[in-house]
Order: sequence, then structure tokens, then C-alpha cells
Amino acid sequence: MIKKCLIPAAGYGTRFLPATKAIPKEMLPIIDKPLIQYGVEEALEAGINIIAIVTGRGKRAIEDHFDKSYELEHQIKGTSKEHYLTEIREVIDRCTFTYTRQIEMKGLGHAILTGEVLIGNEPFAVLLADDLCIGEEEGILKQMTELYKKYRCPIVAIEEVDKSLTHKYGIVEAKELEENVFVVSNMVEKPKPEDAPSNLAIIGRYILTPDIFEIIRNTEPGLGGEIQLTDALLKQAKNGMVIAYRFKGKRFDCGTPDGYVEATNYFYSKLKN
Ligand code: UTP
Repeated sequence: MIKKCLIPAAGYGTRFLPATKAIPKEMLPIIDKPLIQYGVEEALEAGINIIAIVTGRGKRAIEDHFDKSYELEHQIKGTSKEHYLTEIREVIDRCTFTYTRQIEMKGLGHAILTGEVLIGNEPFAVLLADDLCIGEEEGILKQMTELYKKYRCPIVAIEEVDKSLTHKYGIVEAKELEENVFVVSNMVEKPKPEDAPSNLAIIGRYILTPDIFEIIRNTEPGLGGEIQLTDALLKQAKNGMVIAYRFKGKRFDCGTPDGYVEATNYFYSKLKN
């Protein structure tokens, strides 16, 4: 039912400078695989094979990564190293990649609006590649697309965070509908702990409906002068229904050094066992 996944990847990645000066943050590897490839594989697991990526200046490496390198194929074919290409070859074979560029980085909401041309008039998934997620049994997007079949409304993935960290996230106020599924009544972007309505933080996985584009178009810049997705989602929550889903699994915030190292250790220990 959900056929497209939008990956906004135009941000500057300032928290990882100077590494991200000439390399997109989304191309930083966890061991041997770039963050964005983990994301695309998660989308594939959810049955999504049209990958729409919002890029920007200096992000060309992403397009090259999801393209065939004839020189490399020629060099490696028939050698003992060929298996290193197995996974990426499969991703390239199974997906269609489309791209558009965000010219000015005016925030996540604006990046999603920039992706409208690639999505059109249908529900779609959004994946932020710097949130690397490991599902318990199924991937997070798979869990969310299943939930979409039942509720047919926008869904945000949430995680309980320490109250002292609410200023880093969009925080929801919500009422539990069934186990792990909440109806959102309010959302606040990066509140101070004392102002936060809960400790349920929105992470980088969403299922959105196409009416979000018109709402974003009519949303004024919010916190930090950026067009915030949270503000647009709040309008949807007030006028209809938005669900917050406490996913089953684990998330690494690879946009920060702590999360990045944690993810690296996790995958390294898996490699060794
Ligand atoms: P972040 O704020 O986490 O990423 O945005 P950033 O801006 O790249 O990182 P810092 O804060 O400077 O270190 C969340 C996601 O939204 C994308 C980013 O690429 C990231 O995947 N984004 C953000 C855009 O595509 N465009 C924007 O204008 C802002």
C-alpha cells in the first residue's frame, strides 16, 4: 500500500564537521555500510522499493552509491572480493531511486515539501537516515506500514526518552488507544524538560498522507526560522487524527557522536558473533 519512501538528506550535518564537509552525513559508515543504505534496506523490508531522496549541494556521493560502478564491477568480477558488492547490488536491483535538490536548507518540513514532486498524491514513508533503527522482529517501517493499513492516518514513531533530553526532540502529548499506539492531541518542538507534555519523543520514521504538502505550504517558519514538520503534523492532529507508535526495537541517534559510536559497537559485536 505504501510504495514510496522519502529520505530527506539535504541537511548540513554540522555536528559531524569536519567529516561532513565534503561527505554527506548520510554516507558516514557504520562499519562497512553507509547510514543511508541501512535506511533503504529497512524500506525494502517494508515492501517499499521507490526511494525518493532530497539532496543538496555536496551530496552527489549518495547518487553514486546507488548506481552501478562499471569500473569497480569490471575490476572485482570473478575475484575473491566479489562478495563485498552483493548487498549493494541487490539494493540497486530492487529499488528505483529518484532525486530532487533542496536549494535552501529551511528545515525538515521544507525538505519534505521539496520532495512533493517525487511523491505525488499518495501516502508515503519518511525515513531520516541518521536514526538507525533495528526492529525486534520486523523493521520499524514494516511495523508502521502494517499499522497504516489499520488506521489510514499519519503515523509518527516515538520512543520514551529521559526527561532531561526533551529539548532535542519533537514531543507528543497523546492518549493510549491500544498497546503502543497513541492518539496525538498536542506536539511541541524541542521543549525544555519543564515545558514538555510527556517524554514521548518523535524519531525519524513517519508515514505521511499527501495532504501534508498543502499544510506545510501554509505553515509559517517556527523554531529556529525553519519550517517544522511537527507544526504541520499538529494541524493534522487537530483536524483529524495522527497516531504516535511506540515501535518495537532499538534506535541509534547517529547524528551525534555518542549514538554513532553505540551503533558501531552494536554492529561490530554482531559481526564478531
Ligand atoms: P538534522 O537537523 O538532524 O540534520 O535534520 P542536519 O541539519 O544535517 O544535522 P546538524 O543538526 O547540522 O548536525 C534531520 C534530517 O533532515 C534533513 C537532514 O539531512 C537530516 O536527515 N534535513 C534537515 C534536510 O534534508 N533539509 C533541511 O533543511 C534540514
